[in-house]
Amino acid sequence: MANETLEKARAYEEKYSVFIKAEDRPAFHVSPRIGWMNDPNGFSLYQGKYHLFYQYHPYSTQWGPMHWGHAVSEDMLRWTYLPAAMAPDEAYDQAGCFSGSALELDDGRQLVMYTGVRQKLDAEGTRKDYQTQCLALGNGLDYEKLPINPVLDEKDVPKGFSHHDFRDPKIFRRSDGGFACVVGNRTEDGSGAILLFESEDGLSWRFVTVLDRSYNEYGKMWECPDFFRLDGTDILLVSPQNMSQVGLEFHNGNGTVCLMGTYDTQTRAFDRRRVQAVDYGIDFYAPQTLQTADGRRVMIAWMQNWDTAVAFPEGTKWFGQMSLPRELHVREGRLIQNPVRELDSLHGRRVAYENVPVREEANLKGIYGRVLDMTLTLRPQQNEPYDLFRLKFAKGSQHYSDIVYDPKASTLRISRTHSGCTRDFVHERECFVRDRGGELKLRLILDRFSAEVFVNDGEQVLSMTLYTPMTANGISFEARGSVLMDVEKYDIVPQE
Ligand code: FRU
Repeated sequence: MANETLEKARAYEEKYSVFIKAEDRPAFHVSPRIGWMNDPNGFSLYQGKYHLFYQYHPYSTQWGPMHWGHAVSEDMLRWTYLPAAMAPDEAYDQAGCFSGSALELDDGRQLVMYTGVRQKLDAEGTRKDYQTQCLALGNGLDYEKLPINPVLDEKDVPKGFSHHDFRDPKIFRRSDGGFACVVGNRTEDGSGAILLFESEDGLSWRFVTVLDRSYNEYGKMWECPDFFRLDGTDILLVSPQNMSQVGLEFHNGNGTVCLMGTYDTQTRAFDRRRVQAVDYGIDFYAPQTLQTADGRRVMIAWMQNWDTAVAFPEGTKWFGQMSLPRELHVREGRLIQNPVRELDSLHGRRVAYENVPVREEANLKGIYGRVLDMTLTLRPQQNEPYDLFRLKFAKGSQHYSDIVYDPKASTLRISRTHSGCTRDFVHERECFVRDRGGELKLRLILDRFSAEVFVNDGEQVLSMTLYTPMTANGISFEARGSVLMDVEKYDIVPQE
């Protein structure tokens, strides 16, 4: 019985994914081989290659019993899809193999830790999730769930914490060689918390401490944590549900929050000092990071949002995309994100202009496309001020999406209101950017079904999905007043 469910999923994806044409999917962003995808899972280096698993329901473009999809890559941009890695086929995960993580063991095997969900009726007859942490060992292709599963369950959760909302373990090596993992949880007041567990061998785990908690300030249940040290700062990433809007920093609903501080490896205490949003666009959730062989911390996320995952593009047999993998740094106390440098090696044709005066809406010859990497630099002129700059992209006779910069208010707004989506949900988001006297640098990455905007060398990122017909590939520039602009655009050519 155990492997039947997995074999069925593998046969299904093998048989039907061939009907999805390459040009109907993102060119260099991960999308599911077929069906539905949410969170990135097990994003890790294994035997010199990058592995990415994902929350996966191959049989439809909607969320269903969670499997783990699997892809492998040498540059985090060109991915080869492998057979599904896990299916909900054990008593302890019959309702789903939820999110988790992976790492390479010294003996050459890959250790996967994930949340097994089973459902039972409670005393009042309500169907409830029971969430436990489970292990599997694999060789990069096939994974064997361990007979000792689950390795963390309700008896490992401290009093006042939930075993119904107890999920998304992220494992990592401690500096002394042992293992640790952070797991999302919900406290009695309904708000989020992150629990820290440790293990000496990766198999037998014990509760250590509550690393941080929301106290209802940053949303409710905290999902998908990650914990790492970067540029001298300890960073805890969490994805809270049910956030409330705070100025232009946090929006309602599911968000991503970066908690920065100092972790004392002796006392296991995390002293949180600063908090910021991770992405200021519409679609970004459940990020996970890895460390590359050359020491870079790289983050990837589900480029989607639960509240906006209702617009299923007509006729498509896949739903859900990952963000671009982003290199992380801390600069002046803030999280900085830039596309992985590997993207430069996918650059094709270059078109560039310098010192273009931008006034009324205009195009520039050779600047168009839907699979591209384009950087704009704006410089205000001494004698001709400007009070608005607008970049339109994915533009056709009926559609466009845009980015609008207000240099006086120092705000940037991204919008897909006119992108062709006919459903009524959030299509616009605004954030503050650093006031540089009207100077601004924007790097826009387009990949058919998405736009990611990196502001001022990674100080902020705004991501959103797009479902605009590919014929809408125009780009235009416009200013109220006048501003000087440099543009450098590369087509992205993912083929070998
Ligand atoms: C986050 C999440 C996780 C869970 C998974 C289920 O998007 O809700 O907490 O493990 O999705 O698919």
